[in-house]
Amino acid sequence: MKRVKIKELLKTSPQNQEVLVKGWVRTFRNNQFIALNDGSTNNNLQIVVDFNNTSEEILKRITTGASLSITGTLIASQGKGQTVEVSAKKIEILGDSDAEKFPLQPKKHSLEFLREIAHLRFRTNTFGAIFRVRNNLAFAIHKFFNEKGFVYINTPIITSSDAEGAGEMFHVTNFDIANPPKTETGEVDYKQDFFGKATNLTVSGQLEGELAAMAFSDIYTFGPTFRAENSNTARHLAEFWMIEPEMAFYDLNDNMDLAEEMMKYVMKYAMEHNAEDLEFLSQRLFEEEKQKPQNERSEMRLIEKLNFCIENNFERVTYTEAIDILRESNHNKKKKFNYLVNEWGVDLQSEHERYLVEKHFKKPVILTDYPKNIKAFYMRQNDDGKTVRAMDILFPGIGEMVGGSQREERLDKLETRMKEMNIPTQDLSWYLDTRRFGTCPHAGFGLGFERLVLFVTGMTNIRDVIAFPRTPKSCEF
Ligand code: 4AD
Ligand code: MG
Repeated sequence: MKRVKIKELLKTSPQNQEVLVKGWVRTFRNNQFIALNDGSTNNNLQIVVDFNNTSEEILKRITTGASLSITGTLIASQGKGQTVEVSAKKIEILGDSDAEKFPLQPKKHSLEFLREIAHLRFRTNTFGAIFRVRNNLAFAIHKFFNEKGFVYINTPIITSSDAEGAGEMFHVTNFDIANPPKTETGEVDYKQDFFGKATNLTVSGQLEGELAAMAFSDIYTFGPTFRAENSNTARHLAEFWMIEPEMAFYDLNDNMDLAEEMMKYVMKYAMEHNAEDLEFLSQRLFEEEKQKPQNERSEMRLIEKLNFCIENNFERVTYTEAIDILRESNHNKKKKFNYLVNEWGVDLQSEHERYLVEKHFKKPVILTDYPKNIKAFYMRQNDDGKTVRAMDILFPGIGEMVGGSQREERLDKLETRMKEMNIPTQDLSWYLDTRRFGTCPHAGFGLGFERLVLFVTGMTNIRDVIAFPRTPKSCEF
């Protein structure tokens, strides 16, 4: 007989048909009712055990966490809370679970505690919901780009360039680091290393993506990226997943339109395909926020918030306009920011970004045309000589979700800017070739996948939306 997943069974009309189910015990009550879960849904399947005709030996081994295979008949449920249940005929214990030692108890565990037991964390309602939502968001992203005719490109994980020019890279080497070969002048001799040069884990696939866009027109990457920035916050990971579309013949407006359309599409997809999980997460957040003082609670429930983002246009403002808003805000005048906003040109701190989206506009905001000095070398320079065609999309509760720009397609301007910023043009001559042979206006952006999952699930710490988080001083499992 073929095993049926619980999600399917719960939708099946009961006609005393014989079924085979497999899963893990959530609870076992009164020696009679097993709540069985197989991860296909947060809802458990009730298994009714005929304890008079089941051996004591088996009954003892039906413990929380044990894995079971059950053959029985699907019947309409007598009890409340479910429409169907399985009346067990044969129970096989596939894997025992010592009840005394099982770390999850039928009570509320802290998210911090659950992070330490990665294997069982997946078996909780909260993380079951989060990872099913994450899965559908990833699928929806591929679906969105596929429907638009974008080509999915896999850019390298090991590279020899620093795409962002920020120097936040993890080095990749085969050397005995205590004793690396040296050159005559005493420097580490990377010529003798595995790749014959210094290499690192990628911080972004953008530069390679641009090469592909100069042939396919529209491409996207979706892969892991690595940042050795020592930011121990609830929004930074050392290893995170990024979606980076790159489009030939797009300007910044086209770029913003695409980003906004994509975000709405994937949120809608999750709402349609993870309705139960999002309902659960919405309730979880609501309960969590009850602990907070009234003025710190969200005005909207999670589902409402997602609907709001899908239905409303993102606000588009320039950096210069944003600085004026911040400078004139009561918050600034009353010195409530840690970093006061006085002059044009300063980088925005997350407190400023959050003020703009949460207090001022109360919706997602796209900030454009940042000062060139706080942005990467590849962004297209505006005629004012001061700003570049950058865009950041800011979300409530998250801050920066997307970073992107129109690219500088003019070789001379790009080379000059690279020299000003001490970016080695020699090492990036393969990149500059795109500007030598058939350059064209183009644009792209990077969406931090975990930040998207954070927003959609209503979680507050980025460590809770990735299965195995990597952060400063922490690399478990
Ligand atoms: O703004 P960033 O650094 O932009 C780039 O890497 C560009 N090359 C993207 C492009 O234009 N193709 O990063 C893009 C996004 C950020 O907006 C943020 O959502 C996410 O990546 N991100 C992080 N997410 C988690 N942990 C970190 N340490 C992150 N750093 C950036
Ligand atoms: Mg950025």
